[in-house]
Amino acid sequence: MISTPDNLLTMARRMLPDANLAATNLPLCPEIQLWLFNGDALNRPLSPDEQLSVQEYPCYWAFCWASGHLLARYILDHPKLVKDRTVIDVGCGSGAVAVAAAMAGARQAIGCDLDPDALAATDANARLNGVRVDLLDDFFNWRPEPGFIPEPLIVAADLLYDRGNLPLVDEFLKRSRHVLIGDSRIRDFSHPSFETTDTCESSNQPESSGFDEFHTVNVYQSF
Ligand SMILES: C[S@@+](CC[C@H](N)C(=O)[O-])C[C@H]1O[C@@H](n2cnc3c(N)ncnc32)[C@H](O)[C@@H]1O
Repeated sequence: MISTPDNLLTMARRMLPDANLAATNLPLCPEIQLWLFNGDALNRPLSPDEQLSVQEYPCYWAFCWASGHLLARYILDHPKLVKDRTVIDVGCGSGAVAVAAAMAGARQAIGCDLDPDALAATDANARLNGVRVDLLDDFFNWRPEPGFIPEPLIVAADLLYDRGNLPLVDEFLKRSRHVLIGDSRIRDFSHPSFETTDTCESSNQPESSGFDEFHTVNVYQSF
């Protein structure tokens, strides 16, 4: 799949006809650029039809969520976490974390998302940053290379906003002891194999009025 900025713009305009995208440097990670929403389309009053269209096709991939933003920084600052490992960014959206993992020396960075448009955005964002990110449409289709060690690092940034995804955490642990979760949405995550290793301020990019209360990211690591 080759994803061009024009393809992404066509996808974004399914949500709002006047949507625009721009290659945007992340405030916490100025070394990373992503194709993200830009301009006033999100900040003007929406007609009832437009509100429906936003609900039906929310383009999560055109935002970098607070947790992806923060975990991208975390990985760039802690390259040993990913060095020579496969890193699977589950619920990759824009692919911010997968791009950071590739930049930080991962052996293989994989962006995984159920939304094909998110995979297209991840592909375009990998190209924008001059790194390779492989794409996966379903975490359960991932197979390790036989006999390859070390185990992957599995990362989930703002994936648990959908509580239906909570059982995935145990599926991650069946495949690797190394799991890194960032979440700005759920405040009561508790699991016997995880500890909270950090609580940090981040931001959603671009900021949008619906996101105001979700700036604080808890980081959970398996042990
Ligand atoms: C809130 S966005 C976060 C995107 C990105 N991780 C970030 O922090 O910017 C959640 C993403 O997870 C994807 N997603 C939701 N459930 C998923 C699942 N079970 N497997 C893979 N992707 C999923 C959605 O399509 C969406 O792109």
